[in-house]
Amino acid sequence: MNITNFLKDFNLPSPLFVLSTIPFLFFLVKQIKSLPSKCSKNLPPGPPKLPIIGNLHQVDNKPHVSTANIAREYGPLISLRLGNQLVVIASTPEAAMGILKTQDRFLSARVVPTAFQQPSLIPHSLIWSECNETWKNLRTLCRTEMFSTKALEAQSMLREEKIGHMLEFLHSKQGEAINVEDVVFTTLFNTLSSIIFAKDLIDLKDDYGGSNELKATLRKIIEFGGRVIDFGSFFPILERFDLHGIRKGTLKLFSKVFSYWEYIIDERRSQVNSSTWSSEQAHTFVDRLLENGFSNNQIHQLVTELFVAGTNTTTSIVVWVMSELVRHQEVMLKIDNEMKREIKSDKINSSHLSKLPYLQACIKEAMRLHPPVPLLLPHMATDTCEVMSYTIPKNTKVFVNLWAMGRDPNVWDDPFSFDPERFMVTKLDFKGQDFELLPFGSGRRMCPGLPSGIKSIEFILASLIHEFTWVLPDGVDPSKLNMDSKFGIAMKRETPLELIFKRK
Ligand code: HEM
Repeated sequence: MNITNFLKDFNLPSPLFVLSTIPFLFFLVKQIKSLPSKCSKNLPPGPPKLPIIGNLHQVDNKPHVSTANIAREYGPLISLRLGNQLVVIASTPEAAMGILKTQDRFLSARVVPTAFQQPSLIPHSLIWSECNETWKNLRTLCRTEMFSTKALEAQSMLREEKIGHMLEFLHSKQGEAINVEDVVFTTLFNTLSSIIFAKDLIDLKDDYGGSNELKATLRKIIEFGGRVIDFGSFFPILERFDLHGIRKGTLKLFSKVFSYWEYIIDERRSQVNSSTWSSEQAHTFVDRLLENGFSNNQIHQLVTELFVAGTNTTTSIVVWVMSELVRHQEVMLKIDNEMKREIKSDKINSSHLSKLPYLQACIKEAMRLHPPVPLLLPHMATDTCEVMSYTIPKNTKVFVNLWAMGRDPNVWDDPFSFDPERFMVTKLDFKGQDFELLPFGSGRRMCPGLPSGIKSIEFILASLIHEFTWVLPDGVDPSKLNMDSKFGIAMKRETPLELIFKRK
């Protein structure tokens, strides 16, 4: 790719403009100064680097795919230079273990994407904080109040209720083509908003057509956050200029979302502070935050992060499993038989889920092929350390390419075929101990929302399979269903999955 096309492709300023700016000259000087350093001798291998841009031209808008291709040539642990950022990427279970287990202590800080570099927000962030006291306390609080077995049990009625609404809605739309992602996202969103605020925030009916403003704003934040090629982030000296307006754009979106939360929180706060309030009435997550003395700003940040991290990832898995099941009718038939055998009632409830090992194997298999967060979130080295005998210098950005690991023929037999049986004959699980399968990560930064996310995924899929037959509209041949993916904070289908749901 030539440099002018590269800049155009990513909507970057023209080379003439860039060259004409004084900062660019400073940047050139800094670049030249920062070229090979003393410790670069023992870096993981990687392709030759061009002056200034390094390997930027080799990483496109599907970085999980382009870096997997580079890893095939250079090995399990590669190093790239993107602008003046050193980036190390692991692409095998052994390399992932080196990063997420052996050197977890040094490699668990975060690189904050440009979109989220808002000085007022980072001090309250769970996702983007270093592993500091704030981060530790927020994780502990979320684990106890939201993701513990006790909390999950308390949420199960809400989950059943929201899934019930989804089923009712789909029954009312029989014969119509439905955008699956919209309906699943809304259901998960309302489940989470009921847990946090005791309120549904999106109406399934309004949502049909994608008109809901809150949903649109949160999606925009996710889209900004997922921009991998952001010129500024690879050239820190340019960062302050916010060339793409990403930081400014996201700040506007944040204030819009925060004003939604503000109203609800103030209403709740005045109830909590009233003389008639007793702690037995506190049952939402926000009540717990208020009892723990959280300020509005702290609550805004945490709640937004939970929505951003929890809804898209979970939706993505449900949609990928459904896409695979539509393409593999023989697998769908096996799940059907499992359900007929194990479930005798009309409706699915949480107690049925543990009786469906074949459905669970299908979910694992879809997560192997389509990990929702294909490179994990960006980690950063707080100190120089060694992985697989290579040096990882302090401040290196570190990624684990789950997408490459899931398709590696050295790890999986026949890696490109969707074959849930492979998980019926192994105990491999996604809980962070088996480095072949890490959709939720592993180690101290591992996803805290796993128990809640997986419950929703199983429940939604079991309910949709139990009640409906799924048909592609316009007689599309299932084997021709487009399975291309689009990279982002959560990896989605490139084209929406539309299905007609017919009552069984
Ligand atoms: C079921 C689908 C989900 C998947 C596949 C998933 C995956 C991930 C991954 C890969 C990470 C980053 C791990 C790393 O960087 O090493 C992560 C972090 C995180 N996830 Fe999830 N997640 C899911 C659901 C959820 C849910 C339902 C919530 C909350 C409601 C949630 C909240 C978080 C948070 C707060 C973090 C940041 C943790 C930290 O930085 O310490 N996730 N998730």
